[in-house]
Amino acid sequence: MSSYDHTTDRYTKPAIFFHWVIFLLVALAYLAIEIRGPRGSDSRTFWTGVHFWAGTLVLGLSVLRVL
Ligand code: HEM
Repeated sequence: MSSYDHTTDRYTKPAIFFHWVIFLLVALAYLAIEIRGPRGSDSRTFWTGVHFWAGTLVLGLSVLRVL
């Protein structure tokens, strides 16, 4: 039996959770920049805020992930 038979045991449940939440937040941070709209608009203010919080959460969750 090879050591690759138990692939679902290679990462803990929290590690998998953090991985996908961080993936979605990185995607959200990128999306927010893509759709933020013209300088000075309400849309830009909102999506820049979303960008900031998504990016900040990525950093925070990444630190928690490796603790
Ligand atoms: C997952 C993390 C992040 C990703 C993938 C990301 C990605 C990007 C990208 C692609 C841009 C556009 C750059 C350009 O137009 O040349 C950008 C702009 C910017 N990002 Fe991030 N970023 C992240 C986190 C953050 C965080 C944590 C902050 C603030 C603390 C931040 C602040 C900014 C600012 C101020 C801009 C320029 C916005 C503007 O031109 O109005 N980013 N980011």
